[in-house]
Amino acid sequence: MKKVMLVFGTRPEAIKMCPLVKELKKRTGIQTVVCVTGQHKEMLKQVLDTFNIIPDYDLSIMKEGQDLFDITGEILSRIRSVLEEVKPDVCLVHGDTSTTFVTALACFYLQIPVGHVEAGLRTYNIFSPYPEEFNRQAVGIISKFNFAPTELAKKHLLDEGKDASTIYVTGNTVIDAMRYTVVEGYHHPELDWVGDSRFILITAHRRENLGEPMHHMFRAIRRVLDEHPDVKAVYPIHMNPIVRQAAEEELGDCKQIHIIEPIEVFDCHNFEARCYLCLTDSGGIQEECPSYGKPVLVMRDTTERPEGVEAGTLKLVGTNEETIYEWFTRLLDDEKEYAKMAHAVNPYGDGHACERIADILEK
Ligand code: UD1
Ligand code: UDP
Repeated sequence: MKKVMLVFGTRPEAIKMCPLVKELKKRTGIQTVVCVTGQHKEMLKQVLDTFNIIPDYDLSIMKEGQDLFDITGEILSRIRSVLEEVKPDVCLVHGDTSTTFVTALACFYLQIPVGHVEAGLRTYNIFSPYPEEFNRQAVGIISKFNFAPTELAKKHLLDEGKDASTIYVTGNTVIDAMRYTVVEGYHHPELDWVGDSRFILITAHRRENLGEPMHHMFRAIRRVLDEHPDVKAVYPIHMNPIVRQAAEEELGDCKQIHIIEPIEVFDCHNFEARCYLCLTDSGGIQEECPSYGKPVLVMRDTTERPEGVEAGTLKLVGTNEETIYEWFTRLLDDEKEYAKMAHAVNPYGDGHACERIADILEK
């Protein structure tokens, strides 16, 4: 019996790892152990509850205003004893968070093989996104199994000299989750409030955008909403107090936007499927919206998801106020521009990534 341990700590990792936990638990040849670092608290619990997963270990490291030193130091010191006790045959980490990097580092120190889910995404700009680009490259040096979501991600790893026999193109596990979340006849009080208005979905949280860039983003959104009374926006806000303060300052008194608490992933996917367009700096939403044919204005300077840009559904608009204002206005006022972006594509998989990963691990 192989012992597979999964370690994750933030909302997006949980959304993409929980379907894999479920699949691995079905396999008779695998013993599955789940450890959460608790880098996120409420936002992590929300996902664990949705998928009905109770972790075997919870390092509970989150504290308000944590910086990269806090997260790194706390996880590294607390995960050691768990890894030494469990002694997994392989430890799976996901993507590019600090939980991911530090867990992989701890595994390296203890010489435990690492499997990297969502391997090979790259911007090749070490400061954008920050610190995620470093994290995923660093995990790539350590990992023994690389589960790449796309052929492009595989190519990055090959170009970096990774052994081809360690790389498996599986698709992204978030597409597995999406097969079950979006439903007909979905209702939500926020959608009743939007009514017949055009519905804009907004999220923002990236570390490199905290401060001035985020104020620019929010000011651009505010100006466009003021000029378009037929538009309503819903913004499920991240729990980071710095994000909340900026949003309150720039958008707090705007009647056309509802700033609400983080929503369950089930609601988020249904919101995405029903919105007119999305403005975000999120990674995961860049993978999800294209499959519903929803244009995404990506408020970042770089993206590790160029597949969606090439397909035409994502547009990188950066964090400059004027650029966001112009693109947001154009998509609302110019039907042809909107139609160019609004078509469904799904370059990120067929919804069977978890089965493939489980098959490989079982073998
Ligand atoms: C982290 C990841 C980022 C990922 C994002 C997803 C790192 C360095 N960053 O960034 O890659 O895109 O998660 O959302 O790993 N907070 C709460 N409750 C929660 C979650 C967060 O109160 O459930 C607050 C805390 O004050 C915390 C702050 O949000 O200090 C920031 O959380 P943190 O994990 O440090 O960074 P994120 O911006 O969430
Ligand atoms: N999401 C959610 N509730 C929210 C906002 C986002 O469930 O209120 C989901 C979204 O559908 C996607 C993931 O969270 O699957 C993205 O997480 P986030 O933007 O926090 O992190 P990133 O993907 O940028 O690392």
